[in-house]
Amino acid sequence: MAPSPSLLPLLLLFAVVATVGSDVPKEKMTHLHFYFHVYYGGPNATIVTAVSPPGNGTFGGIWVGNNILKEGPESSSMLIGRTYDLTVQASIESQSAYLYMLNFVFTTGEYNGSSISIVGEEVVGETNERAIVGGTGKFRMARGYTISRLISSTGTTELLLVHEHDAYIYHY
Ligand SMILES: *[C@@H]1O[C@H](CO)[C@@H](O)[C@H](O)[C@H]1NC(C)=O
Ligand SMILES: *[C@@H]1O[C@H](CO)[C@@H](O)[C@H](O)[C@H]1NC(C)=O
Ligand SMILES: *[C@@H]1O[C@H](CO)[C@@H](O)[C@H](O)[C@H]1NC(C)=O
Repeated sequence: MAPSPSLLPLLLLFAVVATVGSDVPKEKMTHLHFYFHVYYGGPNATIVTAVSPPGNGTFGGIWVGNNILKEGPESSSMLIGRTYDLTVQASIESQSAYLYMLNFVFTTGEYNGSSISIVGEEVVGETNERAIVGGTGKFRMARGYTISRLISSTGTTELLLVHEHDAYIYHY
């Protein structure tokens, strides 16, 4: 039996939806392991105080970073990207808990030019889990999480902090 003329637009719509549906790419998971180097103080600082905390505590302070992503923990290790990041002292209760927002931009290899955006907490001295809330390039539509921990802190007035990062990125 031929479909009645009034059903035709509906059937066409289903056909279009079905075509689009079969083109949906499969989501995949990429695990990246790298090191995040932060130079604090001195002429080559990669993080600066943008807003000094008002009052006696640290509540309300804001720091801006353009930190370094490397393949390994050594300074001589290969550069794989930079961050554009913001650290905000947004906890009244704890002097060592910060709101942390980062854009990781990869500058080499397969992911050159691609980025992931991360939001979460920085609790000094603890392993931190943060949410990957998006991405660009190869990481378009990304979601996932990162696990990071401080593995070394060297220097006194000029500090080099090295964090180990694992990123579990779900993307298309
Ligand atoms: C800062 O960077 C310059 C250029 O890379 C280097 O020559 C200099 O030794 C560095 N200074 C410090 C204190 O690390
Ligand atoms: C800062 O601390 C000093 C000493 O504890 C206190 O006298 C002063 O009132 C505090 N100032 C503010 C703005 O909290
Ligand atoms: C990364 O991409 C930029 C812009 O396309 C290009 O200039 C640069 O040479 C690339 N770097 C590497 C290491 O492939």
